[in-house]
Amino acid sequence: MPRSGKPTCTLLFILTLSLLALYTTHLHHRHPPSSAAKNYRNTLLYYRNTFLSAASNYTVAAYLRHLTLRPHLAGTPLSLSAALYVQTQFQSLGLTTHVTNFSALLSYPAHSSLSAHFSNGTVLPIPLSEPSVAGNDIVMPYHAYSPSGAAYGEAVFLNYGREQDYRALGVEVKGCVGLVRRGSGMSRHEVVASAAAHGVSAVLMYTEGEFKEGVERGTVMNGLGDPLSPGWAGIDGGEKLDLNDPRVTEKFPGVPSLPVSEAAAESILASLEGARVPYEWRESFKSGARRIRRVGPGPILLNFTYEGELKMATIHNVFAVIKGSDEPDRSVLLGNHRDAWTYGAVDPNSGTAALLDIARRFALLMRLGWNPRRTIVLCSWDAEEFGMVGPQGLVQLVGGLLWDTKIGSTEWVEQNLVNLGSKAVAYLNVDCAAQGPGLFISATPQLDDLLVEVKDPDSENARLYERWTAANNGVDIQRLSRVDSDFAPFLQHAGVPSVDLYFGSDFPVYHTAFDSYDWMINFGDPLFQRHVAVAGIWGLVALHLADDSILPFNYLSYATELQEYKNVLNTLLEETISLHPIAAAIQEFIIAANETEEEIKKLRLNNNLDESTVLRRRMLNDRLMLTERGFLDLEGLPGRQWFKHLIYGPRGNTESKMAFFPGIADAMSRRTNEKEKEATVRHEIWRVARAIQRAACALRGEFT
Ligand SMILES: *[C@@H]1O[C@H](CO)[C@@H](O)[C@H](O)[C@H]1NC(C)=O
Ligand SMILES: *[C@@H]1O[C@H](CO)[C@@H](O)[C@H](O)[C@H]1NC(C)=O
Ligand SMILES: *[C@@H]1O[C@H](CO)[C@@H](O)[C@H](O)[C@H]1NC(C)=O
Ligand SMILES: *[C@@H]1O[C@H](CO)[C@@H](O)[C@H](O)[C@H]1NC(C)=O
Ligand SMILES: *[C@@H]1O[C@H](CO)[C@@H](O)[C@H](O)[C@H]1NC(C)=O
Repeated sequence: MPRSGKPTCTLLFILTLSLLALYTTHLHHRHPPSSAAKNYRNTLLYYRNTFLSAASNYTVAAYLRHLTLRPHLAGTPLSLSAALYVQTQFQSLGLTTHVTNFSALLSYPAHSSLSAHFSNGTVLPIPLSEPSVAGNDIVMPYHAYSPSGAAYGEAVFLNYGREQDYRALGVEVKGCVGLVRRGSGMSRHEVVASAAAHGVSAVLMYTEGEFKEGVERGTVMNGLGDPLSPGWAGIDGGEKLDLNDPRVTEKFPGVPSLPVSEAAAESILASLEGARVPYEWRESFKSGARRIRRVGPGPILLNFTYEGELKMATIHNVFAVIKGSDEPDRSVLLGNHRDAWTYGAVDPNSGTAALLDIARRFALLMRLGWNPRRTIVLCSWDAEEFGMVGPQGLVQLVGGLLWDTKIGSTEWVEQNLVNLGSKAVAYLNVDCAAQGPGLFISATPQLDDLLVEVKDPDSENARLYERWTAANNGVDIQRLSRVDSDFAPFLQHAGVPSVDLYFGSDFPVYHTAFDSYDWMINFGDPLFQRHVAVAGIWGLVALHLADDSILPFNYLSYATELQEYKNVLNTLLEETISLHPIAAAIQEFIIAANETEEEIKKLRLNNNLDESTVLRRRMLNDRLMLTERGFLDLEGLPGRQWFKHLIYGPRGNTESKMAFFPGIADAMSRRTNEKEKEATVRHEIWRVARAIQRAACALRGEFT
């Protein structure tokens, strides 16, 4: 957008401000010292309202239409085109942009086949592709990072592939080709690794849903970021592990796997004889599968082959930066990934369209004279999908025991760890903005108040917000122990306060060729109102964090949340182990939070703009920003040291029962002798207590 329009707009804006000022003149005259601050607040209100009134479902729809014209799998030329499209949009809005490239090991399919061999000699090929969309640029269904391999063996149904499923099944599965349905919350890697441990020679996975012909692509890697640069940024020409290094190979499963459609899975299931379906599995079958009575093994034999290739690929993170006017060295980051398995209408480009619309509306504010107080960075990540796991709603239910690989964001966080640590105020993530009805908000607890406050006053969206609170019996903000999107490295590795927003708990075309613009306008968000609502909340939260002179953080919410975790833990431990260290640390945290709240109240009333007040605000804001970092621990979680956050992080063990304190949760579910287990649990309790103390100390801001 040409910047020449600016002077006229600024004039218009000054006029508007003068009008605003007229309304409040009497106040200004009576309290001259506070007028500047009041003006500032009115100005911010004006910009927020302008941001909201500039919403347009038409522009969001147009962005999504363009983004979803072609598939754009990470590392492909079409993916580079999508990156350039986003950069060009940012640039045409007059925003400053840059691209950060990394080189990462990605995985693509070369060939796959599957056939059923019946005892009467008939051999039937089982289709592995999605019929209606074959032949274009869509990648064939596959599991990224599956090893290549062939298997010929009896088919056996393994239900979800959990330990209890093997126990319930009670038959020898060695040498069989296992069929597994997705949905227990286990990651694909866990399912395949566990099947391999039971002697299964290849795994087929399907997803139950309405789209029987759809096939869910996904990754089976276990690890974070680029597998060749664990813990450091995978820059081109930088250090890379050897492909045969055990640190690399242990991230890939030992046997090959492929996704199949529900239709293909049902045809296999229908031919099984052998053991009866365990009763407890039957209840959870959806639709036609309820007729299944036998789970094999056999008598049909499956002939499975898969060939894939690992390739170094360049991935592109695209950024637009709006420099802060008063505190350019403090940043609010908004992020969404751009790469998709297929067209990505829901996953993730509904979020990309919302991000671009926010960029458009911010650019408009800038033409009206706005400049954020702090820097705003819009981030468009690449290669997230090589790590995405499970439908979001599902992950929600099980509370995040999944591991995965947000490659673009992880490499960038690793590269910018120190700057993020000292300068990042918050990271606001949107992945699938609109997959269906129902608003889901997750956040670190100091942001709860802000999220409750930021109701979108636009009538349609306010209704959505009210429905959200009504559906949840009040405000239900989820926490971020999940690792199913790009907030994971920001919060769990760098300790940056984070938010994640989306509409809809899951969607039937997840990771299939049917995740297209057509599906969006028919089912996902026909009038693009959900897109608009997400962009509204996302942008408003960003405006507050970027513009409020005192950061809108409330650590009393965090304290309440920590108290609750302590109580739940106490119940789970049946009061056998003292939680006194955590209780004492929480008390310290409460005192610090309480004092800080008082200080915030006082400083909010103090509207002076003199140097010493400005400095006091800045010092307070720094403490508010840095408190979350206190929960990080240098050593990280046992056995998974990349995860540094001791309050929120994924569980390492599928049997673990808590979605918080991941280190304690892991220690509790370890299968060792009681004495050893108790010692480990105690140690993890002390580590959490010390983390809470560190956070309290950061919030107080004084040396001990
Ligand atoms: C990133 O990659 C693109 C496409 O390969 C290239 O055009 C661009 O110059 C690269 N940017 C940097 C900063 O290396
Ligand atoms: C062999 O068995 C399959 C499955 O029961 C059946 O579909 C097929 O028609 C049979 N073929 C012959 C030649 O009988
Ligand atoms: C299994 O399929 C592969 C690839 O199509 C083929 O080469 C092989 O002969 C088949 N094996 C059997 C036992 O039919
Ligand atoms: C935008 O919303 C209006 C009002 O709900 C609707 O009539 C229109 O069709 C929507 N536009 C798009 C592109 O969905
Ligand atoms: C918080 O501070 C107020 C006044 O400073 C005090 O009355 C209150 O008891 C404190 N609450 C806690 C939990 O410390």
